[in-house]
Amino acid sequence: MPTKILLLSPQARTLRAWSQALDLESELEIEAVAGEADAVTPLLDVEPPDLALVELSAGTSLAQVEHWAATHPRTDFLAVSAETGPETLLRAMRAGVREVLPAPAAPDAVLAALRRQLRKRFPAAADPRGATGEVLGVVSCKGGAGTTLVAANLAHLLARQGRRRVLLIDLNLQFGDAALCLTTRPAPRHIADLARDIGRLDAELLRSSLVEAGPGLWVLAAPEDPTLSAEVTPAHVRRIVQVARGLHDHVVLDVGRLLNPVTLQALDLADRVYPVLQLTLPFLRDAQRLKRVFEGLGYPTDKIRWVVNRHQPGTTLTLRDLQRALGTERIATLPNQYEVATAAINQGRPVAEVAPRSALQRGLQALTEAAPQAPQADRTPSWWGRWLQAAPVAR
Ligand SMILES: Nc1ncnc2c1ncn2[C@@H]1O[C@H](COP(=O)(O)OP(=O)(O)OP(=O)(O)O)[C@@H](O)[C@H]1O
Ligand SMILES: [Mg+2]
Repeated sequence: MPTKILLLSPQARTLRAWSQALDLESELEIEAVAGEADAVTPLLDVEPPDLALVELSAGTSLAQVEHWAATHPRTDFLAVSAETGPETLLRAMRAGVREVLPAPAAPDAVLAALRRQLRKRFPAAADPRGATGEVLGVVSCKGGAGTTLVAANLAHLLARQGRRRVLLIDLNLQFGDAALCLTTRPAPRHIADLARDIGRLDAELLRSSLVEAGPGLWVLAAPEDPTLSAEVTPAHVRRIVQVARGLHDHVVLDVGRLLNPVTLQALDLADRVYPVLQLTLPFLRDAQRLKRVFEGLGYPTDKIRWVVNRHQPGTTLTLRDLQRALGTERIATLPNQYEVATAAINQGRPVAEVAPRSALQRGLQALTEAAPQAPQADRTPSWWGRWLQAAPVAR
């Protein structure tokens, strides 16, 4: 059954933007009402939604939302308010409002807030997996960071010579090259083929679409034709990962360098995210931007494992600078070994085979050993908890 969401705002334009963002989610039935409280009271009474996101305005007071929350226990309420001082938040929390978003609420903030609530309300639906294969997302802070090399080699090492089953999915939908890092064999099908056939996607169809890249290691390749990238939607990615999780112990996503609805969906699905960067100022600036995106999405800090690739001693910008800038000590490093990296990529073989005793291989092995062996529980704190954490930097 679809999850019913009610959106209320006095501004039709705001509503349109919110609805468009939520349209990316499958299995949501959205009712958007442009107006004030009196326009939705009958709707709440007749067919209470699962979630209601209500923008406060002259005709929709916090007292009104408090009243709704008290009289409609089946509905979770979220409010958008220009006033987000401690008193308002405390009052809203006492009234049972799940989250207060500061106005104006951008569509991606609304999407993230609704996802958080959906995860709490329907843990199984928000994370529908038969089996519990773990999902790792490797993402670039900037092009050429080494993301594909890291994703491919992490996947290869996690397969542990066939003792585990691992799938690498290339989400660089234009010009993806992850399969080429591990094998020279052609892929029987690619991710856009599966998107086209999503209605009949099951374990068998997925299995027959993968290219085998070694013992216990498979790849779902990116489309050969870059123009097919538009055919893959976030809902497709969710379904593909859901089926993949049922078949594999680990699913590694090469998320690449773009943030868009598809890649944000991928990051959301990941139990752990590895953002890859290098120790230069432009990378550092983008890493900080990415960190803010993760915070906005409500990711717990232990979901993120920063990776400095091509690390070498004596750089102007140090690891310590980066730790300070990102506010974490949890940063892995991989050494700069151009010959090894290029030989592996050019031969379509993992680093472990091309240069088993190299420093790069040792770094990749250490990264793999630090990878969790079981999915992370959802440790996103409540909105109240997040607000308390943010309190010291009060506006
Ligand atoms: N640790 C390393 N030491 C030296 N060179 C490296 C290292 N890692 C990657 N490289 C080199 O960097 C280049 C880019 O690597 P890769 O394709 O993995 O990056 P990417 O982040 O996936 O790039 P894109 O943004 O194009 O997807 C490759 O030519 C590779 O040889
Ligand atoms: Mg790449």
